Amino acid sequence: MITGIVVAAGSGERLAAGVPKGFVVLAGEPLLVHAARALAPSCDAVVVVVGEGQVAAAGGVLADAGLEAFVCAGGATRADSVAAGLAACPSGTEVVAVHDAARPLAGERLIRRTVAALQAPWDAVAPGLQVVDTLKLVDPAREGRVVRTVDRRSLWAVQTPQVFASATLERAHAGLGGHAVTDDLELVERAGGRVRLVAGERRNLKVTFSEDLAIAAALLAAGRAASGRVEP
Ligand code: CTP
Ligand code: MG
Repeated sequence: MITGIVVAAGSGERLAAGVPKGFVVLAGEPLLVHAARALAPSCDAVVVVVGEGQVAAAGGVLADAGLEAFVCAGGATRADSVAAGLAACPSGTEVVAVHDAARPLAGERLIRRTVAALQAPWDAVAPGLQVVDTLKLVDPAREGRVVRTVDRRSLWAVQTPQVFASATLERAHAGLGGHAVTDDLELVERAGGRVRLVAGERRNLKVTFSEDLAIAAALLAAGRAASGRVEP
């Protein structure tokens, strides 16, 4: 059984929308609804993790969208929220796909491909993209002085969903020991696991700043225009 975990318990400080990022509306629906809907076809169950005090509101917007999901409260860090999501997975969960609510445009096909790529000998799989910008190592303590240029050819930017056997991710979280991480692959890497990236998609962008939300809205509108669908 595969369970999708949408982490939406962040506050969205950089987006500064006045509400937690998962509840920010894109094309008529909150980001967490977009993310849960994207996961649903590839998963047997979906767990949505939101901030303390937002569990009922999340249940409401998911029900309005016709989506069935377990909703639970997250924690102070993304890793805490993932751990809460793991604990809320229904029994029988063997594989988990952890997805950021901040990535509302993950395509069903991308998610299916990523889930399907979790095969021996791999312990974790996620989509990623080779970086396109020139990268510099900078010393912030010295007025932004460039230390050197970093060879970008082997550098990838990682997306979600990140897919694991649930036992692997539970073990990796148990060994976290207070170390700050920004994704779950790192936990598996630290535990010596074999982690693989598959080809991600540009449209699976992460909404961090307000410009990202505008880009996501434009991409959605373009997709809908191409398929002849119009906004209700
Ligand atoms: N997240 C979470 N619990 C936290 C922190 C983050 O579930 N304590 C989730 C966010 O809701 C988001 C994903 O992890 O879907 C990626 O985090 P990020 O983009 O940093 O979102 P926020 O932490 O909400 O944004 P910011 O850092 O700007 O406050
Ligand atoms: Mg954050």
